[in-house]
Amino acid sequence: MVFPEFLNMKTLSEGLKPSNEFFDYIFHKKEMIWMGQNTNHLNHDERIINAIIDSILNHEYCKYPPPEGFKELKRLVLEDLKLNNDEFDNLITAGGTESLYITMQTLLDSEDEIITSDPGYLIIDNFARRFGRVISVSIYNEDCNYKLTPDLVNENITKNTKLISLIDPLNPLGSCYTKSEIKAFAEIAEEYDIYLLHDITYRDFAEKHYLVAKYAPERSFTVYSFSKICGLAGLRVGSLIVPAEFMESVRSSIINDLGTNVLAQRGAIAALKHKNKWVDKVKRRTRKNQKIIKDAVDEIDGAFIPVYPSNANMLVVDIHKTGVRPSDIANYLLKHNIFIREGTYTSRLHGEKYVRVSFSIPKEQVMKFAEKFVSGMKKLSSRSSR
Ligand SMILES: Cc1ncc(COP(=O)(O)O)c(C=O)c1O
Repeated sequence: MVFPEFLNMKTLSEGLKPSNEFFDYIFHKKEMIWMGQNTNHLNHDERIINAIIDSILNHEYCKYPPPEGFKELKRLVLEDLKLNNDEFDNLITAGGTESLYITMQTLLDSEDEIITSDPGYLIIDNFARRFGRVISVSIYNEDCNYKLTPDLVNENITKNTKLISLIDPLNPLGSCYTKSEIKAFAEIAEEYDIYLLHDITYRDFAEKHYLVAKYAPERSFTVYSFSKICGLAGLRVGSLIVPAEFMESVRSSIINDLGTNVLAQRGAIAALKHKNKWVDKVKRRTRKNQKIIKDAVDEIDGAFIPVYPSNANMLVVDIHKTGVRPSDIANYLLKHNIFIREGTYTSRLHGEKYVRVSFSIPKEQVMKFAEKFVSGMKKLSSRSSR
C-alpha cells in the first residue's frame, strides 16, 4: 500500500471514524514512531516476557481461563490499588475499553444521563449513548484548569443524572484531580445518590493520585488498564473494580463469558508482581521526555501546552493561533514516520485547535519528533501566511 493514498483518504481528519486499513498500515510500518495512542514502549521487562513465553510453552492457550479472571490477577489488581477485597470485587476484562462498556450497560437506562467532559475520551460518550444520554461539558479553558470540576458538575446535574465520568489523569490533556476535588465529587455522588466512573488508565504516571473508591466506595466504578503504564496494550487486558454488592449486576453484563486471553493475564500477573522493579524507570523517562517536547513547542510562536507538566504520558499542543491545522502537522509528521493524534479524536468542540502527543517512548524518538515538529510547523505556518 503506498503512503499517499492514506493522505488522500483524509484518514487522520476523520475523527472517530474507524479506519482499519490506516491502522493496519501504520502498525506494520516498523520504523513508525508511536506517539498517537498513549501506549508505552519503554517497558520490556524480561519477567513479563518470560511469563508469556512460559504460558505458550505450557500450551495454556488450549484451555479457557476462568470467566472473571485468574484469582491471582484479581487479587493483585486490588492490592495494587490498596483496596480491600471484602469491600470490593473485580473482573478481569479485555482492557479498560471492555470495563467502560460493562459499566455503561450495568448502570445506564434510556432516561439516565452521564456527565462527561470535552475534551475527553470520546469512546466513553459513544458507549454511553448506546444505553442512555450524554451531557458533555466543555472544559477547554483555564478557568476550570482544563478539567471537569465539582462546580461544573453541580451546574450540569439534573434529576436524570446517574453517573459522572472522571478520567484521571485526563486523556488528552493530562490534568489530574486533587484530594479535595475527589472528596467533593464523592459528596456530590452521595447527595444526589448517583455513581462515579473513575477511569484511572493513566494513574501511575501522575505525581499524586487519589482514588474515588477510597472516598465513595459504594458509588465507585473504577476502570483499570494494563495498556499504558505496564506497556501491554496489544495484549488487551484490564479490570473493572466495583463495590462487592454490585458484582452480581455486573455479571449480567459480561460479554466475554469464556474469560480473557490467557497469555495477557500471565503477562499482567508478572507485570504487577514485579512492578516495583520497572515502574520508576518508565515514569522517569516519560517525565524527562515531556521537557524535550515543551522546549520544541516553545520555539513556535503561538503554540502552547495548556497543561504542563502533564500528569499522564500524553499532552495537548494547542496550535490554533499559528494558522497551521492539526491535520496538516499530523500528516507532515506521518510522512516522517511519526504518528500523533489530531484533536478531533478527543474533542468534538475544540478538536480543530490542537494535536495530542504521547511520549512513553525512547529519548531518540522524542528528539526526532522535536526536530520534525519545529521544522514542520515553521514550514506550514509560512505557507499558511502566504
Ligand atoms: C481514558 C482511557 N480509558 C480507557 C482506554 C482504553 O484502554 P485499554 O487499552 O485498556 O482498553 C484508553 C485508551 O487509550 C483511555 O485513554
